[in-house]
Amino acid sequence: MLSESYWMHTAPARSFPTLERDLSTDVAIIGGGIAGLCTAWELARAGVQVTVLEADRIAAGVTGYTTAKLTALHSLLYSGLGPADARLHATAQWDAIEHVATTALQLGIDCDFERVPAFTYTETGEHLDAVRKEAEAAAAAGLDAQFVTTTGLPFPVAGAVRVDNQAQFHPRRYLLGLADAIVKAGGTIYENTRMESISKTISGYSVSAGEVVIATNYPIVNRPNLFPRLVPHREFVVAGVIANADDPQGMYITPENNTRSVRTAPYDADHRLLIVTGEHFAPGTAGTRERLDALTTWAQDRFRVKDIAFRWAAQDPQTTDRLPFTGRLSDHLWVATGFGGWGMTNGVMSGKLLAGAITGEPQPWASLYDPQRFHPTREVGRLLKTTAAVAGHYVGDRLHSSPVPAVSELAPGTAAILRHNGTKCAAFRDDDGTVHLVSATCTHMGCVVGFNDVERTWECPCHGSRFGIDGEVLQGPALHPLKQVDQTE
Ligand SMILES: Cc1cc2nc3c(=O)[nH]c(=O)nc-3n(C[C@H](O)[C@H](O)[C@H](O)COP(=O)(O)OP(=O)(O)OC[C@H]3O[C@@H](n4cnc5c(N)ncnc54)[C@H](O)[C@@H]3O)c2cc1C
Ligand code: FES
Repeated sequence: MLSESYWMHTAPARSFPTLERDLSTDVAIIGGGIAGLCTAWELARAGVQVTVLEADRIAAGVTGYTTAKLTALHSLLYSGLGPADARLHATAQWDAIEHVATTALQLGIDCDFERVPAFTYTETGEHLDAVRKEAEAAAAAGLDAQFVTTTGLPFPVAGAVRVDNQAQFHPRRYLLGLADAIVKAGGTIYENTRMESISKTISGYSVSAGEVVIATNYPIVNRPNLFPRLVPHREFVVAGVIANADDPQGMYITPENNTRSVRTAPYDADHRLLIVTGEHFAPGTAGTRERLDALTTWAQDRFRVKDIAFRWAAQDPQTTDRLPFTGRLSDHLWVATGFGGWGMTNGVMSGKLLAGAITGEPQPWASLYDPQRFHPTREVGRLLKTTAAVAGHYVGDRLHSSPVPAVSELAPGTAAILRHNGTKCAAFRDDDGTVHLVSATCTHMGCVVGFNDVERTWECPCHGSRFGIDGEVLQGPALHPLKQVDQTE
């Protein structure tokens, strides 16, 4: 099983009220992760009346389970963007890092902000050409980037892009500090307030706002055709204590081995916490235990980590052209999503971009992230692949691969998708023998869910909704639980 993340463990939650009346506000921000809170802060400090509506607790969604590198180097990206877009992206990301540094200083937020270099490396040489090209493209885009063959990693690499003066921080300490500042500046935050639509809470209270920002990680509306262009990727994170002397002194990522991403965080006077992320997969696909084991073994073999102190998982959607969708969806409706694993800088960037657009001070890179854009050459291949995959998940072919034909044959601790009384069911028998039976049809748009055997959750591969074994919603875009099924034969 997994634990809570290191960030959740070391930054106790603030408490905000639940919305229990109709509300009217200038700007309503749906979602209190990094994108929502940064947007709220930028608006509140500009004197705008702003209200954050969070389904659960703030800074406890994907943002509470991230790796929290603040870098403009996003694995291998710049070489595929073209010079003008690459320059805009580099400038926007660099601006976000500096903005966190300045804001933390101005507001007196102690968030373990540390300046470190960022590396994208190839160990086997498989990506050597790509790494060289990325170093050139990143440097041409204006980053302090170079191709190197030595790093601080305790194993040799064939080559790496190195970008200096990047940063890492404690995301919850930063954002909980920002939440205090939002309230001090006159903003309002509601927790445990899930929005069913952009103008109504799930408990039936109406929210009327001049502007609405959707910052729910995966958007709750499908305009302009967002869903087919957003693919969720889930990943594992493991963290263990290492001696200060074993700190690799930087942030690292490689696309090899199904991605390995490494950083450290302050732990105590003699130790750092090594944090390793990787083994991404589509939510609801099989093999999660093997993925977590592979990541754990890699961390222990490559670094001198004796015990893994924290294990967690999270997911983030990626767009078909690998740049965020941040901007206007329609009149008075805005979105920030599709960060593709780089939402620390992009969440901050989104806050500045959306607040600027709403207050009439647009950012120079607004058109780059416009959610209405479409680049046929960059996007069509990925779009077709996503559409085909989603179509397959509606069909529910897992029924044919179900390991057992009936609930009575499920062993303790196992799950299956099977037919029961004519209904396609998601069945799980817990360690005590109790059967948990719910409909296998996702309440978002009807795909068939799959079981994550590490987290013991039902997950939807189409848009990433996640449900508990009794069907409760753990993560959207689904708003309603999986339907209960009568267990009698
Ligand atoms: C394993 C992993 C490691 C990562 N590492 C890095 C990294 O090192 N650097 C980096 O830059 N990025 C990283 N990322 C990406 C980054 O963490 C995310 O992009 C970012 O946290 C997303 O922020 P968010 O505000 O969009 O989403 P969230 O933090 O999930 O916030 C969205 C909020 O909306 C709420 N919500 C959802 N539906 C509703 C509703 N209907 N009504 C009201 N509220 C709702 C949710 O409860 C949630 O609190 C990583 C991602 C993963 C998965
Ligand atoms: S169908 Fe969209 S998340 Fe399940």
